Amino acid sequence: MILVLDFGSQYNQLITRRIREFGVYSELHSHKLTAEEIKEMNPKGIILSGGPHSVYDENSFRCDEKLFDLNIPVLGICYGMQLMALHFDGKVEKSKNREYGKALIDLNDNPTLFKDTPNRQTVWMSHGDKVTVAPPSFKVDATSPSTPIAAISNEDKKLYGVQFHPEVRHSEYGNDVLRHFVFDVCDSVGNWSIESFIDQEVANIREKVGDRKVLCALSGGVDSSVVAALIHKAIGDQLTCIFVDHGLLRKNEADEVMQVFADDFKMNIIKVDAKDRFLSKLAGVDDPEKKRKIIGNEFIYVFDDEAAKLKDIDFLAQGTLYTDVIESGTDTAQTIKSHHNVGGLPEDMQFELIEPLNTLFKDEVRELGTQLGIPDYIVWRQPFPGPGLAIRVLGEITEDKLEIVRESDAILREEIKLAGLDRDIWQYFTVLPNIKSVGVMGDARTYDYTIGIRAVTSIDGMTSDWARIPWDVLEKISTRIVNEVAHINRVVYDVTSKPPATIEWE
Ligand code: XMP
Repeated sequence: MILVLDFGSQYNQLITRRIREFGVYSELHSHKLTAEEIKEMNPKGIILSGGPHSVYDENSFRCDEKLFDLNIPVLGICYGMQLMALHFDGKVEKSKNREYGKALIDLNDNPTLFKDTPNRQTVWMSHGDKVTVAPPSFKVDATSPSTPIAAISNEDKKLYGVQFHPEVRHSEYGNDVLRHFVFDVCDSVGNWSIESFIDQEVANIREKVGDRKVLCALSGGVDSSVVAALIHKAIGDQLTCIFVDHGLLRKNEADEVMQVFADDFKMNIIKVDAKDRFLSKLAGVDDPEKKRKIIGNEFIYVFDDEAAKLKDIDFLAQGTLYTDVIESGTDTAQTIKSHHNVGGLPEDMQFELIEPLNTLFKDEVRELGTQLGIPDYIVWRQPFPGPGLAIRVLGEITEDKLEIVRESDAILREEIKLAGLDRDIWQYFTVLPNIKSVGVMGDARTYDYTIGIRAVTSIDGMTSDWARIPWDVLEKISTRIVNEVAHINRVVYDVTSKPPATIEWE
């Protein structure tokens, strides 16, 4: 395992990703881990990520510096390199200008991390401070005009630092740098795969659960379907799935879910009709975070009730992903949105949680689903948020508004599939902002709602770009929505990437 310590860089998850793509398991953890805890985890190597701070800031993130004495190879990236340099008596200074973007570096003497890469190469820089004097026991491996100490190493101690970001694709040979660290320096073996993950998780789940029983929150989305299939594989009939129809689902979704899991998969599944319960709790609430919390809490209460009926249930399984965990706030990242399956858990919850996907990225979960034999049309289903249409009706939710989103969304989905774009676009849906505008239909003036179309491409939902849907497809969607959905007289297309926007509008 390669341990990545998180100092808050927006790129730190990418480091973990890249390493897993090499077939080596990697996890991102808080910089607050002690050297003792790190030793227990027994990583083959440690990567110190970049971060937004200056090492001289009063509250800048630090690591337990005893980790440098563990005899485990360390690679410091950007801020991580500066921490390392300071620890070994180098000098770090504030630069007048922040260096951001592509830069050219020149290599010295064939350094290990840059083996078989050109002497001059493009890298991606994003830093304010920089190392101005390398630590006495280190040599300088790369230089650039604005950053004369762009990479350092102490081969004896297997300590390395790069000022640039090898995890970002714009660093032309960045992957090679990471690869050399992971394989040549840390001696990792590239044998981590989804199959090995399945074997390990099945064993973990069996051990954790024993002969007790698990409830699974099945929504029919990719994540919960995969969780259900994985747990089912581990413990069979000790798993009961509960599918809550909270009244915030897409058109026909409830029936489809029951068809697939109850009829085809023959899983033990109970459908709970909780629409009134959710909608009455949400009545009059317009704040997105409050909606999320209410829905998260209500979910658990519904499960609590069902569990009480079922008796002897100890565990609740959830399809929480790695990105959910990280975005909900590690020690460094800011809370952007509290994802309902993490931030919204009530304090009086009575279940122990099982979250077997919480170290995986979305595309890894899809691969896992395929390996488990789940059909493509579930595995490749677009992501759908736990709070459902509640966060796509902006502001206060009413049944009428839900209906508008449901109908327009069904048209959008149908047309995207017809155009053969459903695999290329990560997520596509409609949102109902609280806007009415003037239109004309037939000879009459209308004053009705605007619907927004959101369609984005993404790798893992962390960043995204708006999808370039052909204009004729957009035209057809727009025409159909205005003609077929009551109370819509205007359709707009959202052309914002993430960042600065988010994928959902709330
Ligand atoms: P954002 O809007 O944060 O969305 O760019 C990133 C991904 O997460 C989904 N999403 C959620 N999923 N509970 C969930 O289970 C939530 O509260 C939630 N909010 C956003 C969103 O659909 C996208 O796939």
